[in-house]
Amino acid sequence: MEPTRDNPLIRFAAFWWGIGVISLFFVVLIIVRLVAGGGDGEDPLEEAARLNRLKISNDVESAQAANLEWKKADDGAETVQAKPSDIYDFIGSQLLASQPTKVDDPAQVIPGSAAAEALANAPSDTDYGAVDAMTPEAGTAPDPAVMEKGKAGYMICMACHGMNGEGGPVGPPLANSNWVTGPVSNLIRIQMRGLTGPITVSGKEYNFPAPMAPMGAASSDEDVAAVLTYVRNSFGNSAPPVLPEQVKALRSEIGKPMLTEADLLPAP
Ligand code: HEC
Repeated sequence: MEPTRDNPLIRFAAFWWGIGVISLFFVVLIIVRLVAGGGDGEDPLEEAARLNRLKISNDVESAQAANLEWKKADDGAETVQAKPSDIYDFIGSQLLASQPTKVDDPAQVIPGSAAAEALANAPSDTDYGAVDAMTPEAGTAPDPAVMEKGKAGYMICMACHGMNGEGGPVGPPLANSNWVTGPVSNLIRIQMRGLTGPITVSGKEYNFPAPMAPMGAASSDEDVAAVLTYVRNSFGNSAPPVLPEQVKALRSEIGKPMLTEADLLPAP
């Protein structure tokens, strides 16, 4: 039997000890506040921080003013050092004089906007035919190491295109697809820009609820080339490998609007 648990007197004393310690804490706190706070209700820490902020802002303003040119006084006769307040005049005049920058980085274009549409319809400056011309000649066997790498990369595609490229409810087949064995530029561009809308694969029309999102931007040229080489030489497909240089040449496609079948080069 523990006396502290069961003796009501000891428990009562412990209770008052607790009250006493807490009260003492508050008394000390009040004394500290009275002594340190000066009693006028201002927080000395806040005051110190405020003075510091003021100093920094003054320093910044005078440093900026020192960088401004000496300017002519209003009477035109002498030049005087610009004042901090002149910074605002200076920046304001710069802003007023500035012209909107031409936005030609496609990554900045809002999907579905008029700019995006214009961009989609603009003739491309990329010569896709030249990229296709880089494709190794028919019958060139893919490098087994590249095939291994591509097989690993195919794990992502598998979710939509099936374990054996057979297709499914969310993606068309890659097995015996005319696109897969067709022009390499199409395949690379699909990776960089995604693909949407109805698509006919080897004579059969598909219309999927969701488009294929662009997924090449985050992968290296080698990885994209490897996965494409892999699908071109798996599931019964056979076509020359895709080269990293071809992927590199089409990196500029990233950020352009999603492709539709009409944007692709015809694939026999
Ligand atoms: C989130 C699902 C999804 C993933 C992941 C995906 N695709 Fe697709 N893919 C689609 C859809 C949907 C289409 C058809 C797009 C359309 O509506 O026009 C398509 C079309 C294609 C086509 C052209 C049509 C065909 O069947 O030949 C190719 C080639 C292709 N994908 C390759 C790939 C490769 C390679 C990967 C992996 C790097 C991949 N896709 C990952 C959904 C996906």
